[in-house]
Amino acid sequence: MRAWLAKLFRASTSRTSLHEIRRSFDEASGDEEHFPSTIDPRIYHVRLILDHFGELAGKRVLDAGCGKGRFARVLKERHPAAGLVAFDLSLAMLRFVPQAVSVCSGTMTALPFASESFDCVYATESLEHAVDIETAVQELCRVLKPAGRLVIIDKNVEQWGRLKTPHWEKWFRREELERLLRRDCRDVTSRLISYWEDVEPDGLFVAWLAVK
Ligand SMILES: C[S@@+](CC[C@H](N)C(=O)[O-])C[C@H]1O[C@@H](n2cnc3c(N)ncnc32)[C@H](O)[C@@H]1O
Repeated sequence: MRAWLAKLFRASTSRTSLHEIRRSFDEASGDEEHFPSTIDPRIYHVRLILDHFGELAGKRVLDAGCGKGRFARVLKERHPAAGLVAFDLSLAMLRFVPQAVSVCSGTMTALPFASESFDCVYATESLEHAVDIETAVQELCRVLKPAGRLVIIDKNVEQWGRLKTPHWEKWFRREELERLLRRDCRDVTSRLISYWEDVEPDGLFVAWLAVK
């Protein structure tokens, strides 16, 4: 009974938040300064994803919580023969995704894709908004093919308070996401990263890498 009540409570709070989160990002889509549609491909976040994924010709790649698709834009430019899918809760954000990239809307806590249907999956600064983090991580892993590669880039809870955050946002302990990823993946690692490879990480961003 207690477990059932907890599940019901979780489901109802997730539903309320999803609506609120979607509306907030729909509104934020007009703010190009804080939610840019492009990214400098030299930024380490991009290079790390490209390095971990390797050759992508003929591969299916999911950008989960893609926003305006700034990462997907670079991946598609670098690997024109890759099948990029940009997925986001906010339709307003998806309008900025380049035409060469397929788009799909929904929540990463219930991905509308078949199990084992992507060769690579990444989520940059989006898992922190997923509210039900455990389910979202499970979903990211579910849609990955065996031997598929995963990257999550998000913020470090040790730096909590450094930026203004909406009430639903969560930052993570490295071990916390490593533990969730190890349920379905192997070769799970994490490291602190900064925007530029020659600049010492200041502790804000963490990259988690895994192979299913
Ligand atoms: C800070 S933006 C990051 C966007 C993009 N990954 C980037 O780095 O430019 C967070 C994005 O996550 C999306 N998002 C929030 N909750 C989501 C959910 N449950 N499922 C899918 N996307 C979600 C938002 O709509 C928003 O576009």
